Amino acid sequence: MTPVTTIIEPFRIKSVEPIRITTRAQREAFLKAAGYNVFMLRADDVLIDLLTDSGTGAMSAQQWAAIMRGDESYAGASSYYRFADAVRDIFGFRHVLPTHQGRAAERILFSTMCTSGEVVPNNTHFDTTRANVENTGAEAVDIPVPQARRPSEPYPFKGNMDVAALEALIAEVGRDRIPLVMLTITNNSGGGQPVSMANVKAVRAVCDLHRLPLYIDACRFAENCWFIREREAGYAETSVADIARELFSYADGCTMSAKKDGLVNIGGFLATNDDGLAKRETDTLILTEGFPTYGGMAGRDLEATAVGLKEVLEHDYLRYRIASTAYLGRHFAAAGVPIVQPPGGHAIYIDAAAMLAHIPPRMLPGQALVGELYLQGGIRAVEIGTVMFGKTDPQTGEERTAAMELVRLAMPRRVYTQSHVDYVVEVMRDIYARRESISGLKIVWQSQPLRHFTARFAPAAP
Ligand code: F0G
Repeated sequence: MTPVTTIIEPFRIKSVEPIRITTRAQREAFLKAAGYNVFMLRADDVLIDLLTDSGTGAMSAQQWAAIMRGDESYAGASSYYRFADAVRDIFGFRHVLPTHQGRAAERILFSTMCTSGEVVPNNTHFDTTRANVENTGAEAVDIPVPQARRPSEPYPFKGNMDVAALEALIAEVGRDRIPLVMLTITNNSGGGQPVSMANVKAVRAVCDLHRLPLYIDACRFAENCWFIREREAGYAETSVADIARELFSYADGCTMSAKKDGLVNIGGFLATNDDGLAKRETDTLILTEGFPTYGGMAGRDLEATAVGLKEVLEHDYLRYRIASTAYLGRHFAAAGVPIVQPPGGHAIYIDAAAMLAHIPPRMLPGQALVGELYLQGGIRAVEIGTVMFGKTDPQTGEERTAAMELVRLAMPRRVYTQSHVDYVVEVMRDIYARRESISGLKIVWQSQPLRHFTARFAPAAP
């Protein structure tokens, strides 16, 4: 008997959502009207939406069933206890504060822990994380391992923090100015790359030495723990849930956007083992989100998350999830498209600086490629480069460019099938063949912080 090797979608489809095919001429008009910013498009005008894997997943029949059980009591809802039990079972933290999404957890954490003049180290801050740190007056410092900045170099744990750089930073600024250390798993802005258990332990050891708390940005924890099982010695026989339990045992708390590995469309939480901190965080939660047993979430969403957190750790789900992202990456690479290697968990990142080498970073090659993906195939991706992380000098008008010019194609969970992905590959192959005809863009309007959401662009003079 020939063994079956095809990894299939481990689900069948019960409810479908039509997607609309438009013409290139229509898309040209839509993109122009959107100021060349795909965040400004109507979703109906997008065919394959790979803008984000956040809140865009499909819920299971079990999650929809749980929705009906939602207890919408203002205080003491049974849904909260089921949610908090599910979180404690995996993450192990004593205090669990539900928030409406990840950035609300970040805002509460940083506004409670940080003040002006302080420094927060992270392997790489996500955009909202950085903005929330900076909003307190503190400085957000990224210290990924050097491999993280070399897109084509394969390395199994490119999400790792540079531990020597962490020690050097502590020596330079002094421990008193560092309110917490953070690790983002997987490292989204750095290519969806995992952090190894060894790295978490090494960072913990440095934190212990300097009595610093360690928090984890846990958005894609299940994908990260799957990579540990696949790639790190000693974990091949351990369940992903047990790997997660070990990983979080090294941390003092976490922020979580349940819109990713919670398999829900909205929700998140902040968790901590620090009783005093939890009290202060709860005060802010009540002030800005809601009563502690629902915070920023409806009872029904607490229920769906409790189920999602279990489903996301299932072996067949994670195997399919990681294989389908790798499939897209493998086919891009085979077509010659330079991508961040190896493929990340939730997305493929194209190295736009390498692919569109004729467009200098200040002319936004990533944003140009994002536009072309939409024009050619109705595909929506996102730039993770100078538009997202650069800054315009207010005096000279010069762009301070980002370390890398990436374009991310993020895979919503359980939404698209293999033929959708084959279509994306075909569109990309065509763009790649005529890449030299693509020209750069300039920013004509922007607002801070997080300018990429609303900025407007125009074609730049060659
Ligand atoms: N941290 C990471 C690593 C993230 O990727 C995100 C969101 C957040 C925090 C904030 O969570 O959106 O629920 O407030 N990332 C999405 C993305 C938006 O497209 O990567 P949120």
